[in-house]
Amino acid sequence: MFGKYATLTDPVHNNTYEAISPLRPELSQLGRTILISGGTTGIGYGIARGFVRASAARVIITGRRPEVVSQAVEDLQKEANATKIDGYPCDISSNAAVEALWDKLKTDGIVVDVLVLNAVAFGPNKSLRNISTAATWEVYDANVRAQLQMSERFYKQGNKDSSETKYLVYVSSVAVHDFNIGNDYPTYALTKLSAQLGLQLIAQDSSPEELQIISFHPGSIFTENARSKGFAEDSVPWDHVDLPGHFAVWAASSEAQFLHGRFVWASWDVEKLQSGDVRRRIDEDPTYLKIGIHGL
Ligand SMILES: NC(=O)c1ccc[n+]([C@@H]2O[C@H](COP(=O)([O-])OP(=O)(O)OC[C@H]3O[C@@H](n4cnc5c(N)ncnc54)[C@H](OP(=O)(O)O)[C@@H]3O)[C@@H](O)[C@H]2O)c1
Repeated sequence: MFGKYATLTDPVHNNTYEAISPLRPELSQLGRTILISGGTTGIGYGIARGFVRASAARVIITGRRPEVVSQAVEDLQKEANATKIDGYPCDISSNAAVEALWDKLKTDGIVVDVLVLNAVAFGPNKSLRNISTAATWEVYDANVRAQLQMSERFYKQGNKDSSETKYLVYVSSVAVHDFNIGNDYPTYALTKLSAQLGLQLIAQDSSPEELQIISFHPGSIFTENARSKGFAEDSVPWDHVDLPGHFAVWAASSEAQFLHGRFVWASWDVEKLQSGDVRRRIDEDPTYLKIGIHGL
């Protein structure tokens, strides 16, 4: 199904493993507040659980359906020890709703340390030639405008302590580099790629000590969305949701700083990325694992 990039490292993973375990002291999120868009189900919920296991002080999840937000908060709170779980219904495709979310956080005196951009719109299942510009623009609104707006409000909120790093983790997709995948949803690839380039350009202007930005493909995870697209539990060899759930925690740590501004797969082994041939290429080539025109 995937090209040779799927096995960039040896080994690759389809579930969590020791180096990305949220229980590792080096990945501890103690004292931090985490905001996850679309954290109520699927991958976002798995990421929320990862940050709970990593002892975050507060995990805030958002989603459009208020009853799903409440249920997810209740479920997460049951497995949280000291972590406070909050839920805010918020449709990121509404500019006003995103403003209201961040205004409310500010009024409540909440400063976010880690932002995980996960919520997405899939757009119409038609070729781009058969989608109106207006319909394409609606997908841009959710997948690009909202992501940039969430990011801007995040890095402009100010720090609790100016020496602390802020972490922005973008749940991207294989669709940003393999246009044969997700071919049936062309506005998805178009807008995920645009948002990621936006974040790459912001990263170019930010030191990772101040604002660390990493994008990753989460793997193939059987979620509500996958089910709604007609997949079944046995359609493909799905990855476990703890893979992206725990990888996101690792991406919000100083160990991942060498990936600032780049894109990786959650399945790639982080120790193999940190050393050896891949690491050498990352250190030598500022364009490697980034969006751009190849062959120049
Ligand atoms: N699943 C995979 O195999 C796969 C593969 C590659 C990339 N991804 C990426 O992984 C991320 C999560 O995918 P998923 O499969 O977990 O999706 P999902 O099952 O559809 O879950 C999406 C989450 O986002 C929320 N959401 C959707 N639209 C929203 C909006 N406009 N405003 C606020 N919240 C919204 C949903 O709750 P409500 O419906 O209540 O709003 C839910 O909490 C996406 O960025 C996707 O591109 C997934």
